Amino acid sequence: MISFDNVSVTYTSEKEMALSQLSVEISEGEFICVLGKSGAGKSTFIRTINLLQPVTKGTVHVSGENLDRLSEKETRRLRTEVGMIFQHFNLIPRLSVKQNVLTGRFGQKKAFENLLGLFTKQERDLADYYLEEVGLLPFANRRVEHLSGGQKQRVGIARAMMQEPSILLGDEPVASLDPTTSKNIFQLLTRLHEQRQLTTVINVHDVELAKNFATRILGLKDGKLVFDGKPNQLTTKVYDDIYGHDIKSETFASQIK
Ligand SMILES: Nc1ncnc2c1ncn2[C@@H]1O[C@H](COP(=O)(O)OP(=O)(O)OP(=O)(O)O)[C@@H](O)[C@H]1O
Ligand SMILES: [Mg+2]
Repeated sequence: MISFDNVSVTYTSEKEMALSQLSVEISEGEFICVLGKSGAGKSTFIRTINLLQPVTKGTVHVSGENLDRLSEKETRRLRTEVGMIFQHFNLIPRLSVKQNVLTGRFGQKKAFENLLGLFTKQERDLADYYLEEVGLLPFANRRVEHLSGGQKQRVGIARAMMQEPSILLGDEPVASLDPTTSKNIFQLLTRLHEQRQLTTVINVHDVELAKNFATRILGLKDGKLVFDGKPNQLTTKVYDDIYGHDIKSETFASQIK
């Protein structure tokens, strides 16, 4: 589904590698959580899968396509297969919940249709379907700016699902939410993943969430893969490999006992 073969990414302005000789294969239907301290390369990893970040060396395949060899048209089509949710939701505050969800179809439509807000009945019904799935159908006409953080992330998830993606990516999607809301969002992501065999890759700082929800955990450090295993293999030693032995790591270590 997703494969990285010896991939390195260097940002033009930086000498250090954001990803360094990374090789990993992710199969269809996995629920991956990516751990790593700030600057480890988690966002770069996600952006590479999402075709937003070109690689400096190595090869990435997504859904069987070599990302190096895509035409613009193929790139656009593949992007519609990859849904994305964000830490700060990236919604349009003054638009309604349903209008925001409908923007998830933009990649599949013509520019003038998007400009005029032309959506088919089928698309509107699909928006209602996903709003129901995330528990927000009664809020369909409310402006997004009047929602709580957890509700906004549910809108973000419904918007991503409108693409009917085969891969769902999240870049710290619960980092701005309280622990209970974060858990609820992960429960929702698990449900969507299980219903559809949706390949899910989520960056997260909360080790406990990763252990409870992931089918597999990847640990990045300085752009390198330092852990690849099942949640129950995430020992304190592995934890130190990922986070280093600092005060923050002691806090995290207490979470995984
Ligand atoms: N646009 C950019 N230009 C230059 N360097 C960048 C850029 N984005 C990231 N980097 C660098 O690449 C490395 C990896 O960054 P990345 O954002 O992928 O880390 P991260 O694990 O997502 O961190 P965080 O937990 O803080 O979000 C860091 O050293 C960072 O400074
Ligand atoms: Mg990041």
